[in-house]
Amino acid sequence: MTEQKLQELLQDMTLEEKVNQMLQVAGGFFTGDMVAMGPMAEKGFTEDNVSKAGSVLGALGAGKLKKIQREFMEKHPHKIPLLFMLDVINGLKTVFPIPLGQGATFEPELSERCAQVAAKEAAVSGLHVTFSPMVDLVRDARWGRVMESTGEDPYMNCLFSEAMVKGYQGEDLREPYRVAACVKHFAGYGAPTAGRDYNTVELSRHTLKEFYLPSYKAGIDAGAAMVMTSFNTIDGVPATGNRWLMRDILRDEMGFDGVLISDWAAIEEIIYHGYCADRKEAAVRAVNAGVDIDMMTGIYSEHLCNLVRDGKVPEELVDEAVYRILALKNKLGLFENPYKDADEEKEKEVILCKEHRELAREAARKSFVLLKNEEVLPLKKGEKVAYIGPYVDNRNMMGSWSIVGDAKDVTTLKEAVLEREEGKTAMFGAGCALLGGEVKLEGFMESVEEEPSAEECAAMMEEAVKLAGEADTVVLALGEHRLQSGEATSNATIQIPKIQMELFRRVCEVNEKVAVVLFSGRPLDIREISRKAKAVLEVWMPGTEGARAIVDVLSGDYNPSGKLPMSFPYCVGQVPVHYNEYSTGRPHVEGKDKDRFRSKYLDIPNEPLYPFGYGLSYTRFAVSPAEIDKERMSGGEKLHVSVNVKNVGDVAGTETLQLYIHDIAASVVRPVKELKGFRKVTLEPGQEERVSFEIDGSMLRFLTENDRWESEPGEFEAFVGTDSSTVNCVKFWLD
Ligand code: NOJ
Repeated sequence: MTEQKLQELLQDMTLEEKVNQMLQVAGGFFTGDMVAMGPMAEKGFTEDNVSKAGSVLGALGAGKLKKIQREFMEKHPHKIPLLFMLDVINGLKTVFPIPLGQGATFEPELSERCAQVAAKEAAVSGLHVTFSPMVDLVRDARWGRVMESTGEDPYMNCLFSEAMVKGYQGEDLREPYRVAACVKHFAGYGAPTAGRDYNTVELSRHTLKEFYLPSYKAGIDAGAAMVMTSFNTIDGVPATGNRWLMRDILRDEMGFDGVLISDWAAIEEIIYHGYCADRKEAAVRAVNAGVDIDMMTGIYSEHLCNLVRDGKVPEELVDEAVYRILALKNKLGLFENPYKDADEEKEKEVILCKEHRELAREAARKSFVLLKNEEVLPLKKGEKVAYIGPYVDNRNMMGSWSIVGDAKDVTTLKEAVLEREEGKTAMFGAGCALLGGEVKLEGFMESVEEEPSAEECAAMMEEAVKLAGEADTVVLALGEHRLQSGEATSNATIQIPKIQMELFRRVCEVNEKVAVVLFSGRPLDIREISRKAKAVLEVWMPGTEGARAIVDVLSGDYNPSGKLPMSFPYCVGQVPVHYNEYSTGRPHVEGKDKDRFRSKYLDIPNEPLYPFGYGLSYTRFAVSPAEIDKERMSGGEKLHVSVNVKNVGDVAGTETLQLYIHDIAASVVRPVKELKGFRKVTLEPGQEERVSFEIDGSMLRFLTENDRWESEPGEFEAFVGTDSSTVNCVKFWLD
């Protein structure tokens, strides 16, 4: 449809029709599972409003969505198609590693491919929009939603944000198998006070702009069709009613002209924040802020028509919002083909196809981070291995956002071992329950599987300890339950359940060679595990092909190369902990200064247990001292920092060289280090490669005292190393 036709359509619509375009309803209203009557109707979900709604969330399946669309359009006065939206986060049916795991690949192009596959499976199932990517920067492992993010680094988050948007959307939303992306949660949702979900966010505007906003901007620059508001406050004002944030920053500064959707019921929640007295006022606040779609409250439908008629809300605000929604439908080609790619035959053909599964396996392998290894891994051919732990025979390793992924499509670790030669000398035992009654996961949409009784657990543990004693090596598959991380899963203690720690201790007593395979959605306090186990492999929630990928790595068929996208804290008292902290006036250098009055703890080190960017390999790499081709540069010039990296071990492997920059003195305090580039190099044993990073003026820019992104003359340090703790550094001057 041409722009002019779209405008004409808008002009022809009644106020009710327009306002209801701004209403998003659950699929249940169309399938008979929900009724637009009684309490629902009182909240704005009347039959009339629902019959004119603009979009639907939470319905899936080509056949079902085509039927809903057809029947809906038949009745709609202007035959305007619905937009179907869903959270397709780390895949639809083919489930990839959780986003935090994807961050560990340091390979945004891989996430672009994963997003493309997710888009394809979503599109053939009838969807038009996914509520992804979540690009919130995260620093606090107590917050369960860190699993949805790609980590603590703004540069990295920008690359992943852009890659995922491109993967979902491609060049043109009309292309087959593309869905619109929705960058979320705008803004600063990843910094809730004390790591408690939905809690207040207290960020200086400077920190918000410098660290938190760039990843949203990157997604918007990549063309994201939608943005979602966040639940939190910013500067004391809930984001969903925050004019400054949504108009001045999102629309004017960032140039976003797509659709802004509220998070689930967030328009209503601004009342509970105490920012509005009632639903009517909430409607005014949200529409003034420029929120185009009301996800699931009915407030717009209930109040906007009267507010316009009473002169409290200018009709232009409604028109503006509705035009953006119609424009998105048009970009997806829905006026010409309201079903887009929905296709029952294609669903059978592409969902979980071999190619998609292979990509899931590749992504999982690349996401694993080897945190420790004292010559236990890879497992030796022919050795007797006991695979013990609640994740040995557990199908669900998909992460809490895999609402569509089906555990029956997942191979267990036990099955993956038995598929191979290694299966012949393997022994298996659960050892204990996953949660052991200590953690109660209540109120989740999906039910938590029943666990064995205390007596059964005791017997399982004895049996497992016996197996461990008989084995040459023990692989202990431990970790969080998939529902222990995700939305509304804040934890004050970031450890694995006690029962699993008991199993760990008992096994360590009878066997010295213990390799822990750790499943988690967040960095955990693993001090004891890390001290006692001979090897630790972090595998996150690895998805459909996770188990096969784990066996690829344990067997040595694949040499691990993942790097931490988020620091693993020493203990919970250290969070929020992140490598790119600002310099303090009293810096402390571990082991060097004995001064009491330093920025440090009395009882723990300042450094995390494992820093951002850290991850081992089955081989070793030697990195030469960094060299620089010139010591001064002017604004328009470039210089190069180089190292030689050599594989000094016995097997081929991949190392990720990381470039960090530190601006020594500036008009505002700078982080001690900032990631500015990285390069993955794969080397055969003995092979050496020169790796050069180009530094140009744009990489030295920051938000100065003038509130502008600019660089300032002065001295800088450039570090090149294999993680963020590197001290391999050269200095240079910007004139
Ligand atoms: C609430 C979550 O915060 C958001 O991420 C999600 O997209 C919506 N619910 C819709 O499911």
